Amino acid sequence: MVPASPPERSPVPRPPGTYAPGVESGSLTGHGAFVFGEGFARLDTEWMTDDGITAQVRATYDTVAEDYAAHFPGTEPEAAIDLAAIGHFVTLLETGTRDVLDAGCGTGRMSRYLTDHGCHVQGVDLSPGMVAMACRDHPDIKTEVASITALPFPDDSFDGLFYWYSIIHVADDDLRAVFDEARRVLRPNGVVLVAFQAGEGESEVGAGYRMLGHDVTLVRFHRTADQVTRLLQTAGFLEAARMVRDPLGGERHDQAVVIARLGDLCLG
Ligand SMILES: C[S@@+](CC[C@H](N)C(=O)[O-])C[C@H]1O[C@@H](n2cnc3c(N)ncnc32)[C@H](O)[C@@H]1O
Repeated sequence: MVPASPPERSPVPRPPGTYAPGVESGSLTGHGAFVFGEGFARLDTEWMTDDGITAQVRATYDTVAEDYAAHFPGTEPEAAIDLAAIGHFVTLLETGTRDVLDAGCGTGRMSRYLTDHGCHVQGVDLSPGMVAMACRDHPDIKTEVASITALPFPDDSFDGLFYWYSIIHVADDDLRAVFDEARRVLRPNGVVLVAFQAGEGESEVGAGYRMLGHDVTLVRFHRTADQVTRLLQTAGFLEAARMVRDPLGGERHDQAVVIARLGDLCLG
């Protein structure tokens, strides 16, 4: 269901999944992100299994997929420096084919951006509802349902893997599997880009969607750039670049992009 009148957009473009302090409740500040006042709910997920979290993430994005696609058709929420980081990632892809997996592609808006910048893109997402929107809005880009923890592709399939605010819903225990899969499906010298809200801990961030009438719960995990870089190193990647910027506009958190390349030492 698309709201009759869309929530107010922030005057300052913001990256995905961010929250803004001091802005009136119900404002939409980034894809899948809504301002709901100063409160930032904490969530105790000790009782949940990882599978429980995954099921919850899938169900939530299935529920909100149409609204998400309607509010964020393109890269309007991204800051110029975010797009510059993506540009750097694209230049690091060495082969002429630039085969890129948009890992956690959602409704496909960033798949479109990468395609428009010379990449051959395949998308995967956990949520069939989000994939349905991607197929509807970007029918020329192949997109399928899969988890970034277990990719349905042979070894050496891609030049680049692109995680644009998708690891934010993956629990620590599963993140190692995500980057092990990245190493497996990447070709030699392959490159990963990982974008996320920087910080620590986990939060329940579904309130904005609930304000649109959706009965959902959504957990988000925060990491520092150092933590993500260390996990990538463990999986065999060497840091190539990082961008950590202060919050813009009403964002609550620093925003981070880590780019890393497969090292010479193949741990697989
Ligand atoms: C904040 S949205 C970002 C979507 C897209 N990258 C964009 O920028 O519009 C997070 C996306 O990650 C997906 N996701 C979360 N966990 C995933 C997993 N384990 N495997 C694949 N996709 C996942 C969600 O279904 C959702 O579409």
